[in-house]
Amino acid sequence: MSKEQLIIFDTTLRDGEQSPGASMTRDEKVRIARALERMRVDVIEAGFPIASPGDFEAVKAVAETVTESTVCGLARAIDGDIDRAVEALKPARRARIHTFIATSPIHMRNKLKMEPDEVVEQAVRAVKRARNHTDDVEFSPEDAGRSEPDFLCRVLEAVIDAGATTLNIPDTVGYSLPNLFGELIRGLIERIPNSDKAIFSVHCHNDLGLAVANSLMAVLGGARQVECTINGLGERAGNAALEEVVMAVRTRQDVFPCDTRIDTTQILDTSRLVSNITGFRVQPNKAVVGANAFAHESGIHQDGVLKQRETYEIMRPEDVGWHANRMVLGKHSGRNAFRARLEELGFGIESEEELNELFMRFKELADKKHEIYDEDIQALVTSADQAAINERVRLVALKVCSETGETPRARVTLLMDGEERTAEAEGSGAVDASFRAIEEIVHSGTELLLYSVNNITSGTDAQGEVTVRLDKAGRIVNGKGADTDIVIASALAYVNALNKVLDTDPRHHPQVEEHL
Ligand code: KIV
Ligand code: ZN
Repeated sequence: MSKEQLIIFDTTLRDGEQSPGASMTRDEKVRIARALERMRVDVIEAGFPIASPGDFEAVKAVAETVTESTVCGLARAIDGDIDRAVEALKPARRARIHTFIATSPIHMRNKLKMEPDEVVEQAVRAVKRARNHTDDVEFSPEDAGRSEPDFLCRVLEAVIDAGATTLNIPDTVGYSLPNLFGELIRGLIERIPNSDKAIFSVHCHNDLGLAVANSLMAVLGGARQVECTINGLGERAGNAALEEVVMAVRTRQDVFPCDTRIDTTQILDTSRLVSNITGFRVQPNKAVVGANAFAHESGIHQDGVLKQRETYEIMRPEDVGWHANRMVLGKHSGRNAFRARLEELGFGIESEEELNELFMRFKELADKKHEIYDEDIQALVTSADQAAINERVRLVALKVCSETGETPRARVTLLMDGEERTAEAEGSGAVDASFRAIEEIVHSGTELLLYSVNNITSGTDAQGEVTVRLDKAGRIVNGKGADTDIVIASALAYVNALNKVLDTDPRHHPQVEEHL
């Protein structure tokens, strides 16, 4: 590449997972990490190893799997966090430790209860400790967007001297504006005497809808790493969306002095994978990966596009992985054809048992739905992953009765902790009655925050994909289910969410200090 490289640091597995309900299992994280690696993401932030034993194992599993991308673990600027990250990253071919401490007056005073001098000292100590284990150390002054530039210069100069190789400037609360953020980055690079010894990075949150714009202005100000997530997932309103940053830089090469290594044709499949796994749907009008991103509704536009593409298209849909729904397999397709398609879609199959299980599900689906599309296969694999989570509750049978003028009823049989139990309930509709019947057995004490249905492909025989979000005492989880029958898909999603609620792996949030 003749231009300078813009490093793409993906934090879907860490900041993305901090979105309420987006928590992922170890195997789901490994699946996403493989997709990110295939897309040629430079750095994958795999998690916050000290958060819980589950997070530690997930970071380790990603470090064991990924060979091309650098694998990064997050650590607060404290010894225990750094040591835990070092341990989790041991199997990585290329490892990075990302350590951070807050530098804004409001965070130092209210959250850390520390003086600025102490913050500098702790940052330096953490970077030195991390450098004892890897020569790839990233430091972030948390809430840099609201920090005093003079203090930022002081901290950053000190951590570069201590060995930090990447300086990441987070707009933690999404407060910055594009011109100001671009100037901040330019000013830091100009003012910090040893700034040439490190790469400047940015990490923007989207509270004002400006995460991508802020990141791009920072690139024009000299940043050469952008931290981002697939579909813009992340804490609160999310992070800068990887697909938007990458496509803006690629499309406007006349403006940007750098480019990424990303294989953009992998963008759509990766977006769907993340959406399937987390249950966070992509809005239809979302740039690059939304269903309408390349759809031309109005006659005038269609005419223009047909005559000459560039009239209304600034990117080619195929460059980001769009292709027409293709019928890939059907009822008579064999095991080898199924395996080959899974591999083409990037799903590494680990064992014959796994293939057998997926093939059985595929056959069941093909009996109900004759044309199986890529999207069906993607949903099938991710719902098999969901079923493999610590399953305390399983749906055994469901019968619903829905009739005009009658109250809908459901009869549900669940296998719960090895014991089969049946319950009946009435509800305002078949789905409501099913959820109530499930609750008759489980008594989960949860509140339903969200219920949404989405068709995976078109047609009335399409699979319905249901997302259910539950809250139990502030712990929010998403459950997913897919079936050609949306009442069954709903019950599967509800049971999936319950299994996540019942799974007791309490985890700590990296930016909440009560356990420091
Ligand atoms: O938003 C933020 O400040 C973060 C840091 C941990 C980098 O996510
Ligand atoms: Zn963040």
